This record gives sequence, structure tokens and C-alpha cells, in this order.
Amino acid sequence: MSFSVAIDGPAGSGKSTITKKVAEDLKFNYVDTGALYRSLTYNFLQNNLKKLEEEKIKNILEKTKIKVLFDGSIQRQLINGEDVTEKIRTKEISKYASLFAKSKNVRDYLITIQRNLAKKENVIMDGRDIGSVVLPNADVKIFLTASVDERAKRRFNELKEKSLSLEEIKEEIKKRDFQDKNRQIAPLKKTDDAIEIDSTFLTIKEVVDKIKNIILKAKEVK
Ligand code: CDP
Repeated sequence: MSFSVAIDGPAGSGKSTITKKVAEDLKFNYVDTGALYRSLTYNFLQNNLKKLEEEKIKNILEKTKIKVLFDGSIQRQLINGEDVTEKIRTKEISKYASLFAKSKNVRDYLITIQRNLAKKENVIMDGRDIGSVVLPNADVKIFLTASVDERAKRRFNELKEKSLSLEEIKEEIKKRDFQDKNRQIAPLKKTDDAIEIDSTFLTIKEVVDKIKNIILKAKEVK
């Protein structure tokens, strides 16, 4: 039987870096669900949709085929045959992804796809609602957090061209936190059975080791 791990948390909490590393070390498939929201967002913007209009969203989704491929440790997304893996990492898409993530049609469309990805193989999936909605029976649930200041600093250091100031990034993160925590469907929240890890004062390696230990212990008893 396959083993599943859910990692949820806000933007900049270190989810993707840490999840990728844990997946590599334990030979699990790493599923980045944010990339799926980003890919659909790319498609909406290509269709000139910048507002949360459910009827239009539904029509576009009916004509949309998303394919997820695993290329070593890289997850690739194809939208109607177009590889959008690199194209979805823009500021514009970061901004609009949390808007379209509020849509019921978008969340319904992605839930089956995400669950199917966890059916056959051991998987570690990161997102906002993995432990609460997508994989409520996950074998391990982690809720990763860090202070807003620390998360903004991490995002700022990641930016190559420093096109935004630290203060602007902090404001953008706060806005996204608000949208993710307060939306009606599948808001970001820690479930009672999730283990919370605050990474503000921890190195990547410390967090990775902590999570690996939790997973290995849980695997022993399964
Ligand atoms: O990596 P970062 O935190 O910037 O964002 P992401 O994981 O790529 O996700 C982009 C956006 O999609 C987030 O801000 C959320 O609004 C949304 N999302 C979601 O609602 N549920 C998920 N399971 C994953 C992402």
C-alpha cells in the first residue's frame, strides 16, 4: 500500500525546498500542488480572464487538459499539450493564483487529479489543503510555518533581479496569507492531527531531518 505525506503551510514557509529534499532522500514522488493552481492560472490569463467569474472559469476548464509528468525529481505540467513548467513562475501568476484558488470550479477540477497522483506510489504532496481536504487520511501531516518577516526575507533572497523591495514582498505575502486563510472553500489551516513545525529559526537541513524522522517512525508502525 502506498504511503502519503501532506505538507501544508503559507507562502515562503519553505514547503517546496524542504518537500523536494525529503522526497529525493526517501525516494517518494514529490507533488507540488501549487504548480497545478499556477498552471490553470496561466491558462486563464491566456484566455484574458483576470476576474473570478465562475461561468467563464467553468467554460475554460471544460476545454482544458492538464497533464502532470515526473521527470526525475522535476514535476512538469502540460496544459493542452503546452509545457508550462517554467512559464508559471512569474510575479503575475503568483498574484493571480491565489485569486483563482478561491474558485469552486478550480478546486473541484484539481481535487481528483491530486488524489490520483497519490494512489499508486509513495507521495509527499505540498499545498494549502492537502491534510484537510485532498488527503485527509494521509499517513503523516505536517504544518510548516515561519514568521512573515522571515518568509519575506527568504522570498527576497530568492529574487534574482530584486525587482521588488523587501517591504513590497512582505505586503504581497500578507495579502496572499489573507486570501488563503479566509477563503470559503478549503482555506489554509492546520488540522488537529498535523504536526506543526515553525521553521523561523531552523536551517533547511534541520527541518528536512525533523520531517524525515517523523516519516520514518510512522512508516515503521504502518
Ligand atoms: O510557492 P508559493 O507559496 O509561492 O505558492 P504555490 O505553492 O506555488 O501556490 C500558489 C497559490 O496557489 C497559493 O498562493 C494558493 O493560493 C494556491 N494554492 C492553493 O490554494 N491550494 C494548494 N493546495 C496549493 C496552492
